[in-house]
Amino acid sequence: MIDVVLGLQWGDEGKGKIVDVLTPQYDVVARFQGGPNAGHTLEFNGQKHVLNTIPSGIFHHDCINIIGNGVVIDPVTLKKEIDKISSSGANPKKNLYISQKAHLILPTHRLVDAASEAHKGEHKIGSTLRGISPTYQDKIGRSGLRIGDILAPNFKAKYDTAVANHKMLLDRFNFKYDLSEHEPAFFEAIEFIKQFQIINSEYFIHDLLSKGKKILAEGAQGTLLDIDFGSYPFVTSSNTITGGVCSGLGVSPSKINKVYGIFKAYCTRVGSGPFPTEQENETGEKLRKLGFEFGATTGRPRRTGWLDLPTLKYALMLNGVTDLICTKSDVLSGFDEVLVCDEYEIEGKRTNEIPFNVADAKITPQYKTFKGWSEDLSVIKDYEKLPQTFKEYMNYVAEQIGLNVNVISVGPDREQTVFVK
Ligand code: GDP
Ligand code: IMO
Ligand code: MG
Repeated sequence: MIDVVLGLQWGDEGKGKIVDVLTPQYDVVARFQGGPNAGHTLEFNGQKHVLNTIPSGIFHHDCINIIGNGVVIDPVTLKKEIDKISSSGANPKKNLYISQKAHLILPTHRLVDAASEAHKGEHKIGSTLRGISPTYQDKIGRSGLRIGDILAPNFKAKYDTAVANHKMLLDRFNFKYDLSEHEPAFFEAIEFIKQFQIINSEYFIHDLLSKGKKILAEGAQGTLLDIDFGSYPFVTSSNTITGGVCSGLGVSPSKINKVYGIFKAYCTRVGSGPFPTEQENETGEKLRKLGFEFGATTGRPRRTGWLDLPTLKYALMLNGVTDLICTKSDVLSGFDEVLVCDEYEIEGKRTNEIPFNVADAKITPQYKTFKGWSEDLSVIKDYEKLPQTFKEYMNYVAEQIGLNVNVISVGPDREQTVFVK
């Protein structure tokens, strides 16, 4: 059976930490979509690790880690990541497996991403500039290169054809670049990756399943950045929802068991796009400061705001969440009041439904206000010891969304995790 961990908001919900916490219960961790736009942070034994492409089970030596076919891989970033984790005690030669069918991010994909964003000007998506959208465009356009191609004798010819197409695009954008600055590192990384286990991942996964192995599928980004259901066009270029597991790993829906949905006790968003409960004020500043809300990959300050129940309900509906995990609960300590948006008002009407064009809809969030708490949650290990005021807030959220919260994360470390009995 396959269980899934995914984000219910705009990414950075703490997926890396939670996967790391859950990994001992699994034989395999597999990424099914996204690429190095992700930044998943793990903390244990006083050390912090940020992963971009490699699954968050990599530090558990007995766990098989698979980069699935739905992922897009930048060899240069992957090499850097492998070098870094290897010096931190991981052994990726033994427990990292890469799908032949995962698409390759070429240096020119990154350049096209930059050129496209510059061309959009103030309407830019705020992409991570990792080449994600151009790579998925080539995949869908049937002109992409895949990891398996690097082993074929005609790889360079395929590469040259792709690059010739990208050059036409870059010229059209009138974008200045020097490819010779990027190519040596790219080809060096391609050679480096050849020493790892490049596999026919769908067969490999089915074989593991038939042997009764337990697989945890690790999502990247979040439901509200999903290409179909996010706040289009301010989204990423893959299916971040549970459905993405089937196409991103090659498994049937009947194999999916639990879906762990992760949400922060408040909201954040990086990049452009609508954010109804955003607090562009002192409260927002305080959330950013206390939550250390800066991108794990890009270092960009994250936009911050109160918890938004209409979007959370939407995310639960789309993903079929069975188990709920709330992270960063500790960050809300010290606020006099904690607010939660339980409805939207759009053109004088109250609703819980996310409108078609969120970017243009005039949404006025309707808030319920809770008394804050000052206790330091980060040292609490038992649910019973959590402050009553916090529990009232959490119980209200659970009641509104119709699902209990099973795990409450109270700090970045693996140990700072409270299981609700
Ligand atoms: P991901 O992309 O979903 O894996 O999340 P990120 O790693 O990008 O961002 C989450 C940030 O919050 C990281 O710096 C984590 O170390 C940190 N974090 C995770 N859970 C908690 C928590 O419960 N409390 C606090 N204070 N930080 C947390
Ligand atoms: P993790 O896995 C937060 C956002 C970008 C931008 C939009 C499109 O760490 O939660 P892209 O580079 O994908 O074309 O950018 O999506 N974005 C993320 N925001 N966390 C992420 O990943 C993100 N990956 C992409 O900021 O708004
Ligand atoms: Mg992140």
